[in-house]
Amino acid sequence: MKSYMYIKIALFIALFSIALFAQETAVFRVVNPSFAQISQESIASFVVEAHSASVDSVVIVSDANETFTIEVNPKRSHYCKSINLHFGQNSIKVVGYKKGAVVKEETRDIFLVSKVDKEHRYPPQKYAKNYFHDEKNEKICSKCHDMSVNEVKDVAFLDIKKSNCYECHKNINKEKHSHAPSINWLCTSCHNGKVGIYNQADENRTKYSVPDPIGDVCFSCHKKNQEQWSAKRFHHEPAESGRCNKCHNAHSSSSEFYLRKAAWELCTTCHKDKIEGIHVVKTFGRAAHPTHNVKDPSRNGKELSCISCHNPHVSNAPSLLQSETVMGLCSRCHKK
Ligand code: HEC
Ligand code: HEC
Ligand code: HEC
Ligand code: HEC
Ligand code: HEC
Ligand code: HEC
Ligand code: HEC
Ligand code: HEC
Repeated sequence: MKSYMYIKIALFIALFSIALFAQETAVFRVVNPSFAQISQESIASFVVEAHSASVDSVVIVSDANETFTIEVNPKRSHYCKSINLHFGQNSIKVVGYKKGAVVKEETRDIFLVSKVDKEHRYPPQKYAKNYFHDEKNEKICSKCHDMSVNEVKDVAFLDIKKSNCYECHKNINKEKHSHAPSINWLCTSCHNGKVGIYNQADENRTKYSVPDPIGDVCFSCHKKNQEQWSAKRFHHEPAESGRCNKCHNAHSSSSEFYLRKAAWELCTTCHKDKIEGIHVVKTFGRAAHPTHNVKDPSRNGKELSCISCHNPHVSNAPSLLQSETVMGLCSRCHKK
């Protein structure tokens, strides 16, 4: 008798919460991104499905407290907004309002990985890679966006806005220095749908995968570099293994040559022991040789940095020196 009552109460609670849940999901639905996602680019596209019957506005709040407000209207079902990310964990809130009161709140955690910084290279376990471009996802967008590829091999767009990729990915080239194939929207010259030895697990997970290592793709256009470099005796490990994108962002960067960081900061990320710079003239018993923060006498107008003395890719001299001999190196800057 008693247990019968319990079952009835339990059933009632269950039905009640299902009803509540249904109402909750009807308020809005975050179509993209997923709950705990890894990103390699500093932009996330938020797509929210919302209907004016149950919500007046949806506000997206980044953890830098930037907010973006969507006014929900009866004519539209999906709303889209690109949000900037910082390295590491980003917690981005999506809040629905009806008559000024919060009716639903959800959070999306996105981890922006770094190719070089140890602390941001390996995301915590809860994060997963969720590629976007498959038939199922694209179907939702194709109501309003043309999801086909409309680029012609090696022909830059006269008006880049005509690229079908532009509307959703316009921020990919947002930095000061942008790489020619990216700024000309020849995206599939690299995103050829293939995989390499380091990302075999990604095979068929997205139409637009890019092989890792990427080296051979880079050399398909930079043939001269390949010819010159392969003739040299010594090769820098990350360049030799084709991991060009450890140092270069293939799209766009605030540093010249699309470097992920300015040269000195880039080199010392992997070679932390060289921050003190004591290796050059340690036998002289004097202060350490500078490696930055002074002008470089050998490169007009540029600052001294690791690449004043070392070639980042290849060399005929040990330690990737910019000259064939150590004495030759010194005399590039110390004349007499
Ligand atoms: C109901 C029509 C509609 C649907 C469905 C839709 N979008 Fe959009 N989207 C738009 C419009 C219109 C814009 C232009 C910006 C604006 O007016 O909001 C846009 C812009 C975007 C942007 C650029 C936002 C920014 O901040 O620059 C992204 C990214 C985007 N959409 C992604 C998607 C994805 C992914 C899907 C499918 C999951 C999708 N959209 C489905 C209408 C839609
Ligand atoms: C309707 C919007 C939309 C259009 C159009 C679009 N993309 Fe995307 N794309 C996305 C979203 C959303 C993601 C997931 C990453 C994010 O949040 O920005 C994505 C991710 C990607 C990725 C990473 C791999 C993946 O599948 O997640 C590549 C590469 C890419 N897009 C290339 C392209 C290219 C090339 C085109 C043009 C042929 C294109 N995209 C057109 C919305 C779009
Ligand atoms: C020169 C080669 C190259 C070109 C051109 C290029 N990409 Fe990429 N892209 C890459 C590589 C390599 C990666 C892998 C991550 C990295 O190295 O940053 C990548 C990553 C991405 C990602 C992030 C994927 C993730 O897992 O988070 C998106 C989105 C993307 N590309 C979109 C585009 C779009 C859109 C274009 C055209 C405007 C484009 N790419 C042009 C090489 C390229
Ligand atoms: C589709 C052809 C194409 C591909 C693929 C390509 N590049 Fe480029 N890249 C160019 C063009 C065109 C330029 C601009 C003209 C020039 O300086 O050669 C350029 C310029 C550069 C520059 C600046 C050169 C300078 O002297 O200013 C760097 C660095 C670079 N690319 C690196 C890469 C890397 C790394 C990859 C692979 C991730 C790559 N490129 C893949 C076509 C390509
Ligand atoms: C260890 C970091 C690093 C790696 C890995 C790397 N680069 Fe570079 N790259 C640089 C730096 C730093 C410069 C700028 C050199 C300068 O300012 O003189 C540069 C310049 C360039 C340039 C323009 C100048 C030139 O020498 O023609 C091209 C093209 C280029 N890299 C392509 C590539 C390709 C292709 C790969 C992969 C095979 C690659 N890089 C791997 C650091 C790197
Ligand atoms: C992504 C990590 C990474 C970055 C960034 C990087 N290196 Fe390296 N470097 C390596 C690895 C790995 C080796 C080979 C193992 C070792 O000797 O530590 C190496 C070796 C070297 C060597 C010794 C080569 C030899 O033949 O003895 C020099 C010199 C060097 N790097 C200079 C630089 C300079 C200059 C930069 C900046 C343009 C740079 N590295 C950026 C990873 C990196
Ligand atoms: C003024 C020239 C000069 C500058 C600037 C310079 N180096 Fe060197 N570096 C040398 C010379 C010469 C050698 C070889 C002699 C030796 O081993 O001490 C060397 C050797 C190296 C080696 C291989 C041997 C070892 O000690 O591990 C690495 C790695 C290296 N440098 C990295 C860097 C990095 C990273 C920077 C920037 C922070 C830098 N260097 C700045 C001249 C320079
Ligand atoms: C790319 C340019 C460059 C190269 C190559 C270079 N140096 Fe220097 N060196 C400098 C600069 C810049 C200073 C700082 C001068 C100043 O402070 O006015 C400096 C300072 C010095 C000093 C300290 C001078 C003093 O007055 O205290 C010594 C010693 C020195 N270098 C030795 C060497 C030796 C040995 C080599 C070859 C292994 C070498 N340098 C290669 C640029 C260079």
